[in-house]
Amino acid sequence: MSVQISPSILSADFARLAHEAAAVADVADWLHVDVMDGHFVPNLTIGLPVVSSLLKHTALPLDCHLMISDPDRWAPEYAAAGARNVTIHAEAAGAPVRTLRMIRSAGARAGLAVNPGTPIEPYADLLGEVDMILVMTVEPGFGGQPFLDIVLPKVARAREMITRHGAEIWLQVDGGVSEETIGRCAEAGADVFVAGTAVFGAEDPAGAVEYLRSAARAGSQGTAENI
Ligand code: DX5
Ligand code: ZN
Repeated sequence: MSVQISPSILSADFARLAHEAAAVADVADWLHVDVMDGHFVPNLTIGLPVVSSLLKHTALPLDCHLMISDPDRWAPEYAAAGARNVTIHAEAAGAPVRTLRMIRSAGARAGLAVNPGTPIEPYADLLGEVDMILVMTVEPGFGGQPFLDIVLPKVARAREMITRHGAEIWLQVDGGVSEETIGRCAEAGADVFVAGTAVFGAEDPAGAVEYLRSAARAGSQGTAENI
């Protein structure tokens, strides 16, 4: 399984986004953008205008995570603006199949996210509609929260579901991912790792990405040995 690291700009300096993105541009696979509307989650961050501006200033593909109440309305617009991945929350989407299809037809990868308390099994029939499943490893809304180990069995079940399904679907984890927790996530079957504090809270963000990548690789080898 190839390991991908998606640093979250939620922990970056919002007034210097282009500069912060540049700090990880040579080592990261994605730039994770947390869009929060103050309704689906209590926090309020950035939206489409900032994403459009950021796209002009970074070569990194944008991984937009929409924590908003009306993803059906907004998700296709992020894809049309040029985000390479757009993830919507299962809890918020009124018409997930239509929205996921619209994301794809606008040229982006489509992601489906579930909160810690949301089971993944009801979404088994939607796997044909997605390119990535995001299993939240904290309650969404804020950076810097402690990692929820209780979610790891769901990560493993999601990986089993994906394997049974057969198509290449990425499995992302987001929240509390650090040098200490990333190995466990990889061992459970995750292959795309969002990290905010662990990257932009570090003195050397690029070095932190590389360290996280090697820790994830070590964890995923643990998985391979277990099989
Ligand atoms: C939380 C966001 C995360 C956040 C993770 O709701 O979805 O992407 O940036 O931050 P850390 O890595 O600090 O937990
Ligand atoms: Zn996120």
